Amino acid sequence: MGFGEDFVWGAATSAYQIEGAVKEDGKGMHIWDVYTEQPGHIFEGHTGKIACDHYHRFREDVKIMKEMGLKAYRFSIDWSRVLPDGYGKVNEKGITFYSELIDELLENDIVPYITLYHWELPYEIYKQGGWMNPRIVEWFGEYAKLAAERFSDRVKNFFTLNEPQCFVGLGFLTGEHAPGIRAPLRDTFEMAHHAMKAHGRAVQMLRQYGKQPLNIGYAPTGSMCYPETEKAEDIEAARQMLFSMQTDDNNWTWNVAWWSDPVLLGHYPKEGLERYEAYLPKITEADMKLISEPIDIYGQNIYNGRCIRMGKDGKPEEVRRYEGFAKTAIDWPVTPECLYWGPKFLYERYGKPIYITENGLSCHDVVSLDGKVHDPNRIDFLARYLHELKRAAGEIELRGYFQWSLMDNFEWAKGYSERFGLVYVDYRTQERILKDSAYWYRDVILNHGKDL
Ligand code: NOJ
Repeated sequence: MGFGEDFVWGAATSAYQIEGAVKEDGKGMHIWDVYTEQPGHIFEGHTGKIACDHYHRFREDVKIMKEMGLKAYRFSIDWSRVLPDGYGKVNEKGITFYSELIDELLENDIVPYITLYHWELPYEIYKQGGWMNPRIVEWFGEYAKLAAERFSDRVKNFFTLNEPQCFVGLGFLTGEHAPGIRAPLRDTFEMAHHAMKAHGRAVQMLRQYGKQPLNIGYAPTGSMCYPETEKAEDIEAARQMLFSMQTDDNNWTWNVAWWSDPVLLGHYPKEGLERYEAYLPKITEADMKLISEPIDIYGQNIYNGRCIRMGKDGKPEEVRRYEGFAKTAIDWPVTPECLYWGPKFLYERYGKPIYITENGLSCHDVVSLDGKVHDPNRIDFLARYLHELKRAAGEIELRGYFQWSLMDNFEWAKGYSERFGLVYVDYRTQERILKDSAYWYRDVILNHGKDL
């Protein structure tokens, strides 16, 4: 068994990380525009002002996707580019940009997958409380309606939120991401609740205003868990750990079940409700109904996982990594098993067709004397991970895989110091060079993963 016939091979990006043109054609400001202006937040003061200049070079970029043989492309809409204040007046030029991108993709037989929110919170909404303001649920719904009206004639696949764990956790709990706030725990739980309600409202709007039957999904992240051995008790330990609420309070957003159970099962995990009782906002039945508005597909961003075994006391425990454990340039562990066990456990629990909406790594990529970019570590990493994914494909309903990322881009607080792309970007000239891994991935796509 391998990848099913309909399984799609793609790559992903997000708006602020690649577009640039932050003040052009009527785009409004969002929290990252503002946050990156202030010194001290981002590596060496980098900003997304120009980024990969994709706003002006999207046709060239689609040509590259075609050359790589991509079947699908996941990109995000910058909310503030189409609705400068986040609600109200529509910026037609912003709509035109995404519309032309979609047309270009379709002409090249690349299926577009839109993410509505990859962290560009319009500044106007932020000033009114952002995720703390309950009105954001309707504002986000209005934005989703606009996306459905303008793009769903040609786009069938939509994801609502990308990694709510990060935009709430890093943005408002640890303060490492825009807007750089360390809010009280109580506030972060309220924001999370609003974000999930906004997701539900967006699903309703997409469904109601979609011009064709849509595939609507959600794209959270999380550290996966995999068993140390394939003994039944270790597998059970990994499963329990993945959905448990065991992180410390300052890290609470990393709990998978907290973000996915409400959306897919219609309730928060009991363990979390008990543990965080003191911090929770009022949660009503109507809220839960909205949050669990039925979706069609489940996206999960997966980069790594923790190795788990059943302890002697009958409780799951994490296996300490050995000294010198393989890691990527950004210091994340190389744990291919997470791409088998992660989707498998998620499918068991939630029963929805799964997309890996992001997976990849950063490497210390350079242009060699021969003018090429040799990235054997990326090829090795992807080969190991995709081999595991192939195993999962034979057992669960797996619809697609999006490599992160199509090209090097603005890696948030790390600026341009991390290179996650299959395509190298020289930020001085905007020259793009396909890395060795891009050609390797093209072959994987060509033979539909048979050699993995
Ligand atoms: C998660 C995020 O969705 C994306 O924006 C980021 O660049 C990658 N993972 C790598 O950190």
